[in-house]
Amino acid sequence: MTLLAIETSCDETSAAVVRDGRILSNVISSQIKMHAEYGGVVPELAAREHLRNLIPVARSALQEARVQPDQLDAVAATQGPGLPTALLVGFKAAQAVAFTLQKPFLGIHHHEAHLCSPWIRSAEHRLGPDDTEQTGRDGARRSDLGSADFSSFQPNVSLIVSGGHTLLVLVESQLKHSVLGSTMDDAAGECFDKTGKLMGLPYPAGPEIDRLAEQGNPRAFDFPRPLLNDASDDFSFSGLKTSVRYFLRDHPDLLNDTQSVRNLCASIQAAIVEVLVTKTLRAAKRNGVRCVTASGGVTCNRALRSELARTCDKKGFLLRLAEKNLCTDNAAMIGILAERKLLTGVKPTSLDQEITPGWVLA
Ligand code: KG4
Ligand code: ZN
Repeated sequence: MTLLAIETSCDETSAAVVRDGRILSNVISSQIKMHAEYGGVVPELAAREHLRNLIPVARSALQEARVQPDQLDAVAATQGPGLPTALLVGFKAAQAVAFTLQKPFLGIHHHEAHLCSPWIRSAEHRLGPDDTEQTGRDGARRSDLGSADFSSFQPNVSLIVSGGHTLLVLVESQLKHSVLGSTMDDAAGECFDKTGKLMGLPYPAGPEIDRLAEQGNPRAFDFPRPLLNDASDDFSFSGLKTSVRYFLRDHPDLLNDTQSVRNLCASIQAAIVEVLVTKTLRAAKRNGVRCVTASGGVTCNRALRSELARTCDKKGFLLRLAEKNLCTDNAAMIGILAERKLLTGVKPTSLDQEITPGWVLA
């Protein structure tokens, strides 16, 4: 099956062509630089950029895949959750393509697609933070091509951590899952971004905190670990953010010293990572699975990756982390899931269906 997938739930315009579990193309145009000026994603601007970029991005995806529109067997798009105006652009465009080609269309839950990304492997599995992406002449990023490898699938507890969501999901089989817990307030990525803003770091602060923390002491300052010992699988990060705000109010001079800023970054990062790792492993143990997976933008964080690896190794869990270029939002994961669903007999989504911005993963 050859399928065109579109993702526009937040600030990345992405289109991918997937065939028989292989990613033939995965073009991602990020709007991050534009939103950085405003310190966060501005929904109206996101929608306008999606409108501007979607056709060129989709055309590039087809060209790179060397696929003509009439060779497509199906079309898929993110239906929710996400920013309504942003979702609308990709979802309606995908429905229009399906209508024109008279092919099945499938609306996909963005988080369910994230659950697939740890099982996708690049054709060429390279290491390093930046060398998994290439930038084309149009400024769009292209990820390494890869394919889904569900042959090694194991029931797992999956951590989805991004700027908008923090979720723990029990994945019992490839298409069967249940949410164990989620954030009650700020998402983990939001906590990185907001505490970074308090320190004067540019948006999105997560990658910058990751970089500065490398030379900082994670034990320099003791910030709270919210809900660490709570019996639930829920998260809460707004208290940590508030604690950083008061700490900086009382110690403003720390921001004038480079090493103190590094120490602050390392200490904030350590608090977030400890909560995420401890609760994920605890949920995995309680649910009797032997595998942990993770995806979402925050999964790019090196401390989170290494701490998950260290703890899983120590406690005997298999760890599948999404590759960095597939952690952030991309249409390939939408396409991989859509193809699996269609092949297992899931009914196509009607072309008069609407977006579901508040769609909650069951
Ligand atoms: O998945 P994503 O691209 O978009 C959504 O929010 O849906 O995630 C973006 C989030 C931002 O909050 C960003 O600061 C965070 O992921 N992030 C990181 C790192 N890279 C991205 N946070 C910590 N360390 C990183 N290396
Ligand atoms: Zn996402």
